[in-house]
Amino acid sequence: MCGIVGYTGKREASGILVEGLAKLEYRGYDSAGIAVIDNNKINVSKVKGRLANLEAQLSESPIQGVVGIGHTRWATHGAPSVTNSHPHTNENGTIAVVHNGIIENYLELREWLKEKGYNFVSETDTEVVPHLVDYFYNGNLLEAAMKAVEKLEGSYALGIVNVNEPDKIVAVRKDSPLIVGLKDGENFIASDIPAVLNETRQVYLLEDNQFVVLTASSVDIYSADGQKIEKEVYHVTWNADAAEKGGYDHFMLKEIHEQPKVIKDTMTSRIMLGEEIKLDKITLTKEQIDNIDKVYIVACGTAYHAGIVGKYVIEKLARIPVEVDIASEFRYRDPIINEKTLMIVVSQSGETADTLAALRLGKSKNARVIAVTNVVGSTVSREADDILYTWAGPEIAVASTKAYTTQLIAMYIIALFLAKNKETVSDSQIEEIKEAMIGLPSLVEDALNHKDNIKKFAKEFAKETDMFFLGRGLDYAVAMEGSLKLKEISYIHSEAYAAGELKHGPIALIEDGTVVIALATQEDLFDKMVSNIKEVKTRGAHVAALALEGNQTIEKTVDAVLYLPKVMPLLAPVVSVVPLQLLSYYMSIEKGCDVDKPRNLAKSVTVE
Ligand code: M6R
Repeated sequence: MCGIVGYTGKREASGILVEGLAKLEYRGYDSAGIAVIDNNKINVSKVKGRLANLEAQLSESPIQGVVGIGHTRWATHGAPSVTNSHPHTNENGTIAVVHNGIIENYLELREWLKEKGYNFVSETDTEVVPHLVDYFYNGNLLEAAMKAVEKLEGSYALGIVNVNEPDKIVAVRKDSPLIVGLKDGENFIASDIPAVLNETRQVYLLEDNQFVVLTASSVDIYSADGQKIEKEVYHVTWNADAAEKGGYDHFMLKEIHEQPKVIKDTMTSRIMLGEEIKLDKITLTKEQIDNIDKVYIVACGTAYHAGIVGKYVIEKLARIPVEVDIASEFRYRDPIINEKTLMIVVSQSGETADTLAALRLGKSKNARVIAVTNVVGSTVSREADDILYTWAGPEIAVASTKAYTTQLIAMYIIALFLAKNKETVSDSQIEEIKEAMIGLPSLVEDALNHKDNIKKFAKEFAKETDMFFLGRGLDYAVAMEGSLKLKEISYIHSEAYAAGELKHGPIALIEDGTVVIALATQEDLFDKMVSNIKEVKTRGAHVAALALEGNQTIEKTVDAVLYLPKVMPLLAPVVSVVPLQLLSYYMSIEKGCDVDKPRNLAKSVTVE
């Protein structure tokens, strides 16, 4: 996700800003820029691509000054480009802003500002901020920033500079990280501690809704109502490598823990109670939707598993037949595609060769194609007709976790959007599902609390060579993802089966001590699932179950059970996958595997 830095002191700012940004590269980015105040002017230098491009541009056209802000951008609103990259300025270039997060109500604010005569040059949500600060500026940058922030909904860490107060940076955070680095005669802001570790180990960890005003010689912190706050200085004792993983041992664990936030981000500004679903990059009309007679969801690996959940929910809610295909199979089986076909291609990277080939096949046969992808400007996003971005932020671990749960959210959103247009579900049912979706981040947070039990389980069973994951309905879809995660990072062979199918063959593999993970979150299938569990128990399996709170009767049938918070069954995959991700993680740790970079695997598979 985006990275922010800021410097105020006596040295030239540009090099310090670029150095700080380099320490935030691990967050992922596709463009970068800095703004430095010099002689009543803000000089801005921005590039698309890597920091090396920015360094090259700065060495050709250096910018001077001792106060500045910098940014690495991970595109969300608008493709990676110089225009969309930060810092953004007001029209006369006297105010510059860097932003990390998502301004949910930016469209509304854009319209409001346009009515007041402001013009916009980028597609970003961020650009409303310098205009808002400009609108409220009356000689005091802090006051203007406070008034501007009052208008913002969403998440933000902001760094703001103004030529009229050239020694100052004003910064604020809400739901996006921001720290202040303290040094004698110079001070810093940054999204994360590594950006300042070369300079200082003394930092303030800002909390939500706290503002900070920095000059070279002072740092003042304020609450949103303008009261000065005293904060304790935090002394950093750990090294930069640990900090890049946010204190977690691996990126995978960090990404698992980011899920409550990124699930919320992916719903942000799209799913709001009492309002229409807003999908600004999907332009399908009601007439076109009524014309669809078939949906193909095409993807690979984890994204394919998200597609299986998509099939279930789209068929259930929108009553359109859906087929889910592994992309590498799809194009070789001569699928029936025409102008009545809607294709949904799902790809975290947006660059997977097989998925791209399937997309191109669909387009060549006049299908309408929606891309669900995490990477703005990726090939898949450029070639599809419509796009629904997952806002998971960069996923660094090879094993996909937060991309999967945000892909699930995308599936629910598309299903609701189609259902609303086809009028297959009542408005009150749609509201009920939306309300349950809004509650998902906190349920995922609860599911993350089971780490200790899962660790114990992993310790006990890490020597297993085979495991089974069983489920019915949506639980089967999640079982497949759990099984893939386990194989991928712990190298334990595992199989996922539809629990009812077991007795048609695979049950022959169950013997004394075979480990079976049984998912039983689907209330209407609960009794049937318990019967299937009994079938394997009778043959000696060791069964650990996942069930929802309130279904304690399962304890009579299984060896261990982990309870998940009550969740609408349709949405259960978002919660039930979390313990399975943790299970594969801790199994991998027990076995001493390379969690983030499992053998033989690449993050983005760009060959067929
Ligand atoms: O970037 P994509 O979503 O298109 O990638 C698809 C698969 O390669 C990917 O999900 C893979 O299965 C992951 N390693 C799973 O953790």
